[in-house]
Amino acid sequence: MAELTNPERRMLRALQSRDSNWTLQEVLESCNWDDQAIAVSAGHGLANHGLVKMNESSKLDVILGSEGESAAVNGLLEARLWNYIKKNQNVTMNDISSNFERHEAGPGIGLLKGLGVNIEGGKFSCDNAELVTKKIAERTDFIMSPSIESPLIEHFKGRKNLIEIVEAVTRTWKITPKGMAISSDDLKEVIQIAEITPELLQGDSWKNAEFRPYDVSLEASMPRSGKSHPMQSLIERIRSIFLEMGFSEIVDDYVQTAGWNMDALFIPQDHPAREMQDTFYLDEPKEINLDPSLLNNWKNIHEHGGDTESTGWGGEFSEEISQKGLLRTHTTVNTIQYLAENPTEPCRVFAIDRVFRKESIDRTHLPEFHQIEGIIMEPGANLGMLVTTLKTFYQKMGYPEVRVRPAYFPYTEPSLEVEVKWRGKWLELGGAGIFRPEVTEPLGIKDPVCAWGMGLERLAMLVLGLDDIRQLYISDLEWLRNQPIL
Ligand code: PHE
Repeated sequence: MAELTNPERRMLRALQSRDSNWTLQEVLESCNWDDQAIAVSAGHGLANHGLVKMNESSKLDVILGSEGESAAVNGLLEARLWNYIKKNQNVTMNDISSNFERHEAGPGIGLLKGLGVNIEGGKFSCDNAELVTKKIAERTDFIMSPSIESPLIEHFKGRKNLIEIVEAVTRTWKITPKGMAISSDDLKEVIQIAEITPELLQGDSWKNAEFRPYDVSLEASMPRSGKSHPMQSLIERIRSIFLEMGFSEIVDDYVQTAGWNMDALFIPQDHPAREMQDTFYLDEPKEINLDPSLLNNWKNIHEHGGDTESTGWGGEFSEEISQKGLLRTHTTVNTIQYLAENPTEPCRVFAIDRVFRKESIDRTHLPEFHQIEGIIMEPGANLGMLVTTLKTFYQKMGYPEVRVRPAYFPYTEPSLEVEVKWRGKWLELGGAGIFRPEVTEPLGIKDPVCAWGMGLERLAMLVLGLDDIRQLYISDLEWLRNQPIL
């Protein structure tokens, strides 16, 4: 009977000696236990195995409350007052007040009145003193040995903290034929191994021991330990997926110029997203100087398309606007600068970084969030490659259903929107495309560049099953503790 614990074995051996009901006391005695909890838990275990039948009955019982305990030692208040009145001649209210505690005198006299004692003109009198004495003696007897059967229960229930009514459970156990059938050889107590440790496995003692089977259906306490914030774990996971796919990570500052954040990406200078209400422009540094030849290239592209076949946006390009300091609004500013520094070397790079937009905070928007950005530059890079890369990424994240739809960004052609299926719905997670010549040409880039930028928090909402993005950053400890390990 490997599944029985040692206490269960001991108790079953005891119960095999007599085929009738056993009380808790009898079990404790024959098993040589002091602790009731051991007997009760062994009894439960045996009952679960069908080896004993347990009978449980509960009945009400009475025990003394805190005032009752002190009455058992010092006497009931009415008894003490009555004794005092009997012992001393002509006791008055004043005598009572000076010989008893303030909080006792009032209620005590109330009790005596209830027993038939009168007070007139400050003096005590009584028609039947013997009856009072007798009733008080009955109450005292009750306090000395309280019984739930006593008619005095109702009286004492009405008094504060004298008694408590409790429910007492009595259990008895009786062996079943199945329990009887177990041979006593199988009920020998043995060393049982409940936990396998490296130390145990190094020695020999486990060879003759029994392994206690795990009961995976039992309630267990949750182990609590420190762990990374779910956002941090998610970032780590994304990072390792891109590294595994052959990408290298780049990191850049979030203070940038409008030139790199927008002009380099052929975003027209009068584009609505550039307005103060969408972008955080900085007072410090208000301006960051850019290389004049770079500004000149962008000017040519924006005004008339430079050396590309584009006609540009027309109008007049402002170098002042270009040199404005801002908090980057997307991480495409990282990849474009990487390309500007490495225009001819094929590459696969990614960034997971923070971006800023003047958004009002709601269920799906934060003014500060993260993007997962990436590019592939190499001869022959194309749309198919871009889509496959994104699909592979989401597949590795656990979202096999991905689709792309046509979209528009000023810096890519064609442009795509990436959507992932989640709980039966398509959710937009980011944008992608192939950089336009207006973007690559001024930087001296010759090979095609696949580019994408996706929302990290959006993805986190899917992974963690959230419907409010704010949950990620409010430091709700209970929620954080219960997050799965990603
Ligand atoms: N920068 C775009 C955004 O913030 C995403 C994007 C990146 C689109 C690269 C195309 C290419 O939504």
